[in-house]
Amino acid sequence: MHVTKDRGFIHRVPSEITPRAAYESRRDWLRHAALAAAGSGLAAWAGRDALAQTPAPAGAALPGAHSSVAGAVTMEKITARKDATTYNNFYEFGTDKSDPAGAAHTLKTRPWSVAIEGEVKKPRSFDIDELIKLAPIEERIYRLRCVEGWSMVIPWQGWSLSNLIKAVEPTGNAKYLQFVTLADRAQMPGLRSGVLDWPYVEGLRLDEAMHPLALLAFGMYGEVLPKQNGAPVRMVLPWKYGFKSAKSIVKIRFIAQQPKTSWETAAANEYGFYSNVNPLVDHPRWSQATERRIGEDGLFAKRRATLMFNGYEPQVGQLYAGMDLKKFY
Ligand code: MTE
Repeated sequence: MHVTKDRGFIHRVPSEITPRAAYESRRDWLRHAALAAAGSGLAAWAGRDALAQTPAPAGAALPGAHSSVAGAVTMEKITARKDATTYNNFYEFGTDKSDPAGAAHTLKTRPWSVAIEGEVKKPRSFDIDELIKLAPIEERIYRLRCVEGWSMVIPWQGWSLSNLIKAVEPTGNAKYLQFVTLADRAQMPGLRSGVLDWPYVEGLRLDEAMHPLALLAFGMYGEVLPKQNGAPVRMVLPWKYGFKSAKSIVKIRFIAQQPKTSWETAAANEYGFYSNVNPLVDHPRWSQATERRIGEDGLFAKRRATLMFNGYEPQVGQLYAGMDLKKFY
């Protein structure tokens, strides 16, 4: 495997770590990827249907990920795709972990648009197929840590949210982003329950949203995002608890004041705005010191120590310099 380090990020060159046979069988995808690398990012995902027929084996580099700035790639074992796509939190489709995989087929992901509103010089609505083309698709293999005490390692396809932020030109008043997700009773049976105020909303400070690790994802495991994982577009914020990563986003608002989030509204004493992974700050009902890696559930499986900022402290720690992380949890 060819690994280089640059600006604190680890780059992987997919063609060098993809088995030859897989490489050959995915040459269409790679051709698209080459176009993406050449700057027309778009083509990579024009090929996504072909891609869906050629799932990447776990652990292999994913085709189409040209990886120009792959962020903080982990060398840990990738979670089985089956686990990542059947053990989900997506309350719009039910509150049991197995509900979304069974129920999310009713989600209609085309046509789909994402509106950019508020404190930006260029507010606009993007058709999802236009949005995908805004920047070249990259592969990011990130740890995902849920506040419930479990974790996974998932290969995502997407690009840094900063690409979109730069394109819409925030005004000087923009200090925060709010992510608004789809809430449609006709498609989402979970909306009948009052477990959360719908739509599911999340937020970030502008500088957090600009961080290169903050990923807008359109795919995982080399395929289009499964519906239960937040198709057609979601956030992935590897240094924060999983609930900060909003699924099935329909609107991003740039605002001056810190927005309320769904989980803060539901239980402000349990879920703060920042929700950075922090083994030293326990949730009132769960210790955050350790975690259970999904797929390591055997009799002798040990819980793993949870890392500060989920192991991404070297990259993101400076965003929170001087803040009392017990107060701003
Ligand atoms: N986004 C929406 N719209 N609705 C949700 O219920 N759950 C969150 C987050 N994003 C959620 C959501 C939680 S609690 C987690 S842990 C992650 O999605 C889970 O993502 P995954 O199922 O793809 O692992």
